[in-house]
Amino acid sequence: MQPGTHQPLITMELPGPKARAIIETDSQVTSPSLPRAYPLVADHACGCIVTDVDGNRFLDFAAGIAVCATGHCHPRVVRAIQDQAARLIHLCGSDFYYLPYTDLASKLASLAPGPGPWQVFLTNSGAEAVEGALKLARYATGRHHFLAFFGAFHGRTLGALSLTASKTKYRRKFGPLLSGVTHVPYAHCLNCHFHLNYPACHLACLAHIEQDIFTHTVSPDEVAAVIVEPVLGEGGYVTPPPDWLPALRELCNRHGILLIADEVQSGMGRTGKMFAVEHFGVVPDIITAAKGLASGMPLGAIIARSQWMSWEKGAHGSTFGGNPVACAAALETIALLEEGLIENAWQIGAYLLEKLAGIKAEHPALLADVRGLGLMIGVEFQSAQQAHAVAEACFRRGLIVLECGQKAIRLSPPLVVTQAEADTALDILAEALEEME
Ligand SMILES: Cc1ncc(COP(=O)(O)O)c(C=O)c1O
Repeated sequence: MQPGTHQPLITMELPGPKARAIIETDSQVTSPSLPRAYPLVADHACGCIVTDVDGNRFLDFAAGIAVCATGHCHPRVVRAIQDQAARLIHLCGSDFYYLPYTDLASKLASLAPGPGPWQVFLTNSGAEAVEGALKLARYATGRHHFLAFFGAFHGRTLGALSLTASKTKYRRKFGPLLSGVTHVPYAHCLNCHFHLNYPACHLACLAHIEQDIFTHTVSPDEVAAVIVEPVLGEGGYVTPPPDWLPALRELCNRHGILLIADEVQSGMGRTGKMFAVEHFGVVPDIITAAKGLASGMPLGAIIARSQWMSWEKGAHGSTFGGNPVACAAALETIALLEEGLIENAWQIGAYLLEKLAGIKAEHPALLADVRGLGLMIGVEFQSAQQAHAVAEACFRRGLIVLECGQKAIRLSPPLVVTQAEADTALDILAEALEEME
């Protein structure tokens, strides 16, 4: 990249003429269900900068929804993809063996927190990993029921969608969904479901499961698993209080229920640890991963303790899951994470949080909360309209951020983000807030 090209640069009203023409054609031939947050038509990208077809440059604080962990087109990841593509593109990891699948499974098994052994099933996406985790939990326990959380996002396929409860629009008109799913409140203390304050609440949201759900509607001995995002993603980038996940783990232990940590968004170093559960000292039974795993190549994983990965030959498979090229990208991605990007996520995340706390103090009428772990940062507004307007204003200035939850925006830049880029993002956000004021 040329000197100076790591800064955003918007030279025209957006979208520019080439982008407008493509969007016009696109709108006639693609599914109208695609959410398409902004009129951004990307041409190429490098590091944290995305360049559109008209030559405008954007600083990317969304990373393809928390996917491009190593930045866009990291040269080492590109080389790993090219080398693997020249050797073997596909054979089907469900039917045959090839080294990248075995190597990646070994690596992920070694990275899983807590005592092993662990075993791995590779998928194409986060939703496919969640689907597989549901099947595995039913298979391993002989139980059929699941608990999931309000605010959760676990994917859009029918099984995963049955767990997803962040917005009704994701579920509307798609029912009936999977039977045997009960939703309970997440530890979203700022908007406590029970109007209590932490820690005086004594984790009332978990007591509700025992005292209400398990007493009146669902017998715990029929519950296969509780599925939880260790940090709520699409539902608002909410970090639960420190003792909540350990207490949830204990609740599962008491009733022989498996704990599935959905780390599709929070995993692969984004929060400053390889998996977000490590911040809480919790060892799940099953972990789902995807998004950041392969720097943008489609890949997901079910990582389960061997004791639970007990399904028989043929019970579960996938034609493309664990594709060799995606596995090669994942192995290089993990190497880069371990060589310093996880540490960088923690450092720059802490820097952003500190600066954002200052910005919040200057805009009490706009900002309700800033929070986060590593580079999974939520900025909550007083209203949904404010969140939307600020996200739009950032976009017009060349900063890409996505909304989440009811009235928040999320900052989830690539893990290669520098302090200078963080400062640029903060300046643009501050300008957007000034404009709102
Ligand atoms: C926590 C979580 N689980 C599952 C999914 C679904 O992943 P995918 O879109 O790859 O199917 C997502 C996607 O945003 C997610 O954030």
